Amino acid sequence: MNFKEELKEYVNIVNNELEKYLRKEKCPEERLNASMEYSLISSAKRLRPILMISSYKLFKSDFEKVFPFAVAMEMIHNFSLIHDDLPGIDNDDFRHGKPTNHKAFNEATAILAGDGLLNNAYMVISMELAKEKDTKELNNKLRAFKELAFGVDRMIAGEYVDTEFEGKEISNEYLEYMHNNKTGALIKTSVRIGAILAEAEEKELESLSKYADKIGLAFQIKDDILSEIGDEKVLGKPVGNDRERGKVTFVTKYGLEKAQEMLEEVTNEALEEIKTYGNKGEFLKELALYIKNREK
Ligand code: IPE
Ligand code: IPE
Ligand code: MG
Ligand code: MG
Repeated sequence: MNFKEELKEYVNIVNNELEKYLRKEKCPEERLNASMEYSLISSAKRLRPILMISSYKLFKSDFEKVFPFAVAMEMIHNFSLIHDDLPGIDNDDFRHGKPTNHKAFNEATAILAGDGLLNNAYMVISMELAKEKDTKELNNKLRAFKELAFGVDRMIAGEYVDTEFEGKEISNEYLEYMHNNKTGALIKTSVRIGAILAEAEEKELESLSKYADKIGLAFQIKDDILSEIGDEKVLGKPVGNDRERGKVTFVTKYGLEKAQEMLEEVTNEALEEIKTYGNKGEFLKELALYIKNREK
């Protein structure tokens, strides 16, 4: 199987897992459930769950073990996107090629759908922990759970800094802090959870964290570039909106050319970090290149 086929297969696996948690019952809040489903089931890349699966697979093959955490991560990611698009934050009307959640439903429903997805994530993990009988396994999953909660904390901090600096000057340090947190945190957490669940050694965890830091940064630089020169139809979300809102991005701060150079540089650094895994690290290597070259 080549990289593209393998990636597609993982996307299907993740989509299939997510479907299992949809709520279809008749109830007074069925529109809220529909709103959560509207955002969760989409043409998204599923990058974070896929990173989790592939970092687990560096060490072990029974990767179903990460599914509850992968599902929780994707729910949290979608919570972050719903709230990110709200009028009070980015005020965007399109995502995944369709109206954003608050446009398709309404603001109140979108806020609650975000809250619901965040809490659903913790419900999925709590069910997973509650059924674990083996003490060693339980401790390991608790460690992964803690990583998740701390990662979410960082993502929220980064989103805050993003809103705080809209339309203002920002230092290079703050720009990097913002991006490391709002985008880097969940990416790094995904890689780390995969490795933790696979009982990787501490030094492995450390080198994988470095790889994750690099691809997290690369991901956001690319996001900023696409927000400037991407194809709206392919991207499924607006182009030019960051500049319109006075957002500080890698492109507005450094210019397109320099941002592209930085993207190449951090991607190469990520590839360096993953080299030690040889053939086993091939998929993570391809993922770093995919992040750099993606059009959506
Ligand atoms: C977009 O993330 C938001 C950022 C953190 C920059 P993705 O590009 O991974 O979102 P999907 O693929 O649409 O879920
Ligand atoms: C979104 O960042 C980050 C989170 C939701 C945590 P952006 O606002 O830059 O991403 P897009 O362009 O809306 O996807
Ligand atoms: Mg934003
Ligand atoms: Mg946004």
